[in-house]
Amino acid sequence: MRPKISVIGSGRVGTSVALHVGLKSLGDVMLVDIVQGLPQGEALDLNHMAAILGLDVEFGGTNDYRDIEGSEVVVVTAGFIRKADMTRMDLLNKNSGIIRDVSLKIREHAPRSKVIIVTNPLDVMTYVALKFTGFERQRVMGFSGLLDVGRYKTLIAKELNVSWNSIEAPILGEHGDSMVLLPKRTLVGGRRLTELLSREKVDEVVRETRGMGAKVIAQKGWSASHAPGAGVAVMVDSIIRDRNLVIPLSYFLQGEYGFSGVCTVVPAVLGWDGVKRVIEVELDPDERAELMRSVEKVRQAQEEVDRLLVESRA
Ligand code: LAC
Repeated sequence: MRPKISVIGSGRVGTSVALHVGLKSLGDVMLVDIVQGLPQGEALDLNHMAAILGLDVEFGGTNDYRDIEGSEVVVVTAGFIRKADMTRMDLLNKNSGIIRDVSLKIREHAPRSKVIIVTNPLDVMTYVALKFTGFERQRVMGFSGLLDVGRYKTLIAKELNVSWNSIEAPILGEHGDSMVLLPKRTLVGGRRLTELLSREKVDEVVRETRGMGAKVIAQKGWSASHAPGAGVAVMVDSIIRDRNLVIPLSYFLQGEYGFSGVCTVVPAVLGWDGVKRVIEVELDPDERAELMRSVEKVRQAQEEVDRLLVESRA
């Protein structure tokens, strides 16, 4: 009996997740969407790929949430994507109701699953999913840290002419303009990035990383899908094979880093049961102040979404 991974949303990101999960042979994949025929057609195409590559996985497509029953992992990509002139927070009104409704379906049809949120604004949507699935926090997390670190590494690799495999970079805070990259704790072959690049160049790399999501949209006309699909599959891999990878992911803090009641990106040990523990990076005063600003931005958005969802149910 192979594990089952369900993907809610069969657009570019959802099908990229399905593809990468299948290529890693992590389990059978069930694609879900409200559009009649879309998940079914994508599953057909993916099964043909599996047959060509000899992958021992099967892809299914459905418009019926009952078909996610038995899922070990449910990945949520449903929702609107932003346009080049929008911030991720601009999606808050549109997507919060969608994630609430999807979360209630997951609660009903896959009550034992681990949930990975991809929909933006990521940290707030992770909070909505935690609230409406009613799951313990260990089983609800948001994907974004691997994406931002991946982008950060490509820029550093280019500047220093080194492989991105030789760069180690933590990240904290919001998946957004206030994300907290830590150049003093970014290591290239064991050396601090701040010893290898000028302050101006470090600031430029940080600025470009923060703007990279919008740059992808501006150039290709819609948001990233290849990198998110690959990154989510890394998280699914760590869960399904209980690998205990330390992965930066959005998580509901209860005292870690001195914060409680808010979702934000932190390094976490990820295994079969979900998040096993948070790794607390030592921060100096200016790094802590930056994280505080980022976390408070998410907290305010959480308070706004609480009001929104209460009003919408009134
Ligand atoms: C991005 C979206 C996934 O950063 O938020 O491309």
